[in-house]
Amino acid sequence: MKLCMIGTGYVGLVSGVCFADLGNEVICVDKDLNKINKLRKSIIPIYEPGLDELVKKNSKSGRLKFSTNINESVQKSNIIFICVGTPTKKNKYEADLSQVYDVAKKISKNIKSFKIIINKSTVPVMTGDKVEKIISRKVKKNLFSVVSNPEFLREGEAIRDFVYPDRIVIGTSSKKSNKILKNLYSPLISKGAKYINTSRRAAELIKYASNAFLATKITFINELANLCEKLNINVEDLSIGIGTDKRIGGRFLRAGPAYGGSCFPKDTRALVDTANKSLTSLSVIKSVINSNNKRSNLLLNNISKILKNRIKNKKITFLGVTFKANTDDMRESSSLKMIPYLNKKGAKIKYYDPTGKKSEFDKLKNVQFKKNIKEACMSSDLIIIHTEWNEFKLIDLKRIVNKKKFIVYDLRNIYSPEKIKKQKIQYFGIGR
Ligand SMILES: NC(=O)c1ccc[n+]([C@@H]2O[C@H](COP(=O)([O-])OP(=O)(O)OC[C@H]3O[C@@H](n4cnc5c(N)ncnc54)[C@H](O)[C@@H]3O)[C@@H](O)[C@H]2O)c1
Repeated sequence: MKLCMIGTGYVGLVSGVCFADLGNEVICVDKDLNKINKLRKSIIPIYEPGLDELVKKNSKSGRLKFSTNINESVQKSNIIFICVGTPTKKNKYEADLSQVYDVAKKISKNIKSFKIIINKSTVPVMTGDKVEKIISRKVKKNLFSVVSNPEFLREGEAIRDFVYPDRIVIGTSSKKSNKILKNLYSPLISKGAKYINTSRRAAELIKYASNAFLATKITFINELANLCEKLNINVEDLSIGIGTDKRIGGRFLRAGPAYGGSCFPKDTRALVDTANKSLTSLSVIKSVINSNNKRSNLLLNNISKILKNRIKNKKITFLGVTFKANTDDMRESSSLKMIPYLNKKGAKIKYYDPTGKKSEFDKLKNVQFKKNIKEACMSSDLIIIHTEWNEFKLIDLKRIVNKKKFIVYDLRNIYSPEKIKKQKIQYFGIGR
C-alpha cells in the first residue's frame, strides 16, 4: 500500500519505517527541512534503539522516502497518517490541536481519489469529527474517510512495540476503511496482535484512558513509597507483593521520580479538560496530576534533608536526565525541575546522560555536562541516579568518586542498599 506519514517525529518516523519494512511504500513528511535532509542521509534525529538500521535498509530498498512536500506526498498516497504533535496549550489543560487542523486543511486540498485519513496523533474525543468537517469543506464525502488509530508505542521500545503490539485500535464505522486497515495490519495481527474496531470517538478515548490509567499506577506506587519510607518498609517488596496479583499486574508499579515524557503529563491534562467540557468530574485523574506535580518538590525536600539543608556549593551529580531510559526525550522530565532548583540554591551540578548534552541546561551557570560517568561523578558530594539506564547499574562508585565521604540518592532503586552500605557509602533510595 502507499502510505504517507505527516509528522516525522517519534511516532511518524518509527511507524513509517516499520510500515515500509512490512513491504509498503511510505513517504515520511515533515515541515522541518533540516530533519528531512538528515533522514535522506540516514542520519536519525532521535535516539531510538534499532531505528538507524531499519531506516538504512528501507531507504536502500526504495520503499521509504522522506519529503517536505505535503501536497505531492498526499496525492501519491492512499492512506495518510497524521502524526504531528498535540501539546498542552500554554497555561491550560486543553490540547493544542492547531498542528492537526493545519495538516487537515493541507490534506483537503490534495484529494482527487479515495483516501483514508488516519489520526495517529493522540487527540481529544471528537477531533476526528472536526477533521472530517474541515476536509468536507473541500472534498466530497465519498472520497475520504477519517479514522482514529491511536499509537501505543513506548519510546526506547518503539520498534518492538510497533511490530508486536498488544492491540491495534481502529476507530471507524466505515466497512471499507476497516477492511483496508485490517489488511494493512494483517502481518501484525497474524503475530498475535488483537484487532479492535470501535467507533472513532471510543478509539480516541481509549488512548487517553490507557495513558491516564498507567499514570495512575505510577502515582499510586509513588505515594505508597512515601508511606513505606515512614514505616520502614521496602516498597520493592510491596510492588512484587501486589504486582504478582494478575488482576493488578506488576508493570508501572516501580516507585521513582515524578512521571514525565511527551505523553502522560499532557494526556492526563487533556483528558481532564475533555471531562470538564462534558461537565463530568474525573477526580481520580485530577488528583494523580496534582500528586505528580508535587512529587519533584517532595524529592527536592528529601535532597535538602539528606544534605542537612546545606545545598550551597555542594557538588551534585545527575546520572541521566531524560524522563526514562533509552530515549533522548526531555519533555517534562523531572530533571527539568530538579536541576534548576538545586542550581538556584547554589549547588554545583555535573550531569551525564548517554544521549548527550541537553540544551535545556545551557543557560544555567554551574551546570555542566560531562562526557562520561567517571568525570561526572569524580569528587561529588551527592550522586543522584535520575534515569534507569543499564550502564548505571554496576558502577564501582567508590573507585570513580575517589572521595572518602559521598552520598547516593537512587531515585530508581537500582542498587542494593545492603551491598552499597557495606562499601560504607551513605545511600538513600525511594520507599526503602
Ligand atoms: N512520543 C511518543 O512516545 C508517543 C507515543 C504515542 C503517541 N504519541 C502521540 O503522537 C503524536 C506525535 O508525537 P511525537 O512524539 O511523534 O511528536 P514529535 O514532536 O516528535 O513529532 C511531530 C513532528 O510533526 C512535525 N510537524 C508539525 N506540523 C507539521 C506540518 N504541518 N507538516 C509536517 N510536519 C509537521 C514536526 O516538525 C515534528 O517533527 C502526539 O499526539 C503524541 O501524543 C506519542
